[in-house]
Amino acid sequence: MWGGRFAAGPASVMREINASIPFDKRLWRQDIAGSKAHVAMLGQQGIVSGEDAAAISAGLDAVAAEYAANGVPVNLDLEDIHMVTESRLAELIGPVAGRLHTARSRNDQVATDFRLWVRDAIDEVAAGLFALQAVLLLRAEEHADTVMPGFTHLQSAQPVTLGHHLMAYHAMIGRDRSRFADARVRMNECPLGAAALAGTGFPIDRHATAAALGFDRATANSLDSVSDRDFALDYLMAATQCSLHLSRLAEEFVIWASQPFGFVKLPDAYSTGSSIMPQKRNPDAAELVRGHAGRIAGCMTALTITMKGLPLAYSKDMQDDKPPVFEAHDLLGLSIAAMSGMIETVTFRTERMRALAESGYATATDLADWLVREANVPFREAHHITGHAVKLAEDRGVQLAELPLADLQAIDARIDESLYGVLTVDASVASRRSYGGTAPGQVRARIAEARTKESSI
Ligand code: ARG
Repeated sequence: MWGGRFAAGPASVMREINASIPFDKRLWRQDIAGSKAHVAMLGQQGIVSGEDAAAISAGLDAVAAEYAANGVPVNLDLEDIHMVTESRLAELIGPVAGRLHTARSRNDQVATDFRLWVRDAIDEVAAGLFALQAVLLLRAEEHADTVMPGFTHLQSAQPVTLGHHLMAYHAMIGRDRSRFADARVRMNECPLGAAALAGTGFPIDRHATAAALGFDRATANSLDSVSDRDFALDYLMAATQCSLHLSRLAEEFVIWASQPFGFVKLPDAYSTGSSIMPQKRNPDAAELVRGHAGRIAGCMTALTITMKGLPLAYSKDMQDDKPPVFEAHDLLGLSIAAMSGMIETVTFRTERMRALAESGYATATDLADWLVREANVPFREAHHITGHAVKLAEDRGVQLAELPLADLQAIDARIDESLYGVLTVDASVASRRSYGGTAPGQVRARIAEARTKESSI
């Protein structure tokens, strides 16, 4: 396609290093759509005849039908999806195919194709995250009253409700959705018509092609248009943050599934066995989601470093933009689907959760708060008194509520019988009614709010 000024063909290693068709064939749908919008505009503007434009458009449909049926042929000599498509078009419709590339360059072509692809990718991720949130809402509602230990430093801290814990991830995923939505708004500008770098002398209508491809507007600077890959980085950064959230959720499942915790029984469909230890039920899916976050962050780093210090406008380094985005997108899609499936089908062992919530002196804060509220003790002093009570219970190997009143009163005379009412885990969670707190009523209110807000993100 560009052989006019060359006497010799490329070295075989040059063909290999130069070709992007092995991976950019994934852009074929976007490449066809971009070309169809371009040629329709060329026809409207009288840059090519209406007849030629119609022949090219029909030819592009025929190429697309072939790709859909048989896949995109990988021919390293043709370098990339743009050349493969144009060359097949020429085979099908003859020399008129050569008019398609009027007033455009592969530089604005690939920038357009890739934006379209990333926009579709964002829409796919958004749908997946929406579904994950729906599953979280369902399970959270089911377990709005289920008591489990809440942790800080992975030490029993205060009892919380499982619904509250799951809704924490609902909030994280909500922020992820909004990050992808922001990225989509920012990226939805059309670079087509920037041509190689400087724009074109042909009387093109960039606003028409932008509208035809569903963009909000045409980009404002031709140099920026062909060299901007912010949109891909925005996607990768949002994907990285999202995968970090998924990896934390996955880690919880790994911990909860281990025997010393025993908070969940993972569904068969999301576990694997061991080839040597028959008792094993390994949380591989969760571990892989945790691991994939590392690879997704790696993809983000790869493109970040590729783009660092590139002068305007297009440089071939930028061909390397696609593999990390494709890889991250595939990994993220799998991770979202795996976590959704796992949460939907996991068995929560609520008795075990309750037993552990009741065993770690998790209501010590409630004892201290009782002293503040009922006996007007300053919180610091109440904390100290409670520490003595915990120590006594620990020495005797009993729970706080199992200490006789006389022994508690020996620690502090202001304690009376009514204290026992706040020492149960149910009373503890029920008392935490502050906005966004763990009380079942609060959790239900937040779930109801999320349901009404949900579709608006
Ligand atoms: N395959 C190329 C890429 O993905 C298309 C743009 C090529 N442009 C050029 N001037 N060689 O970046």
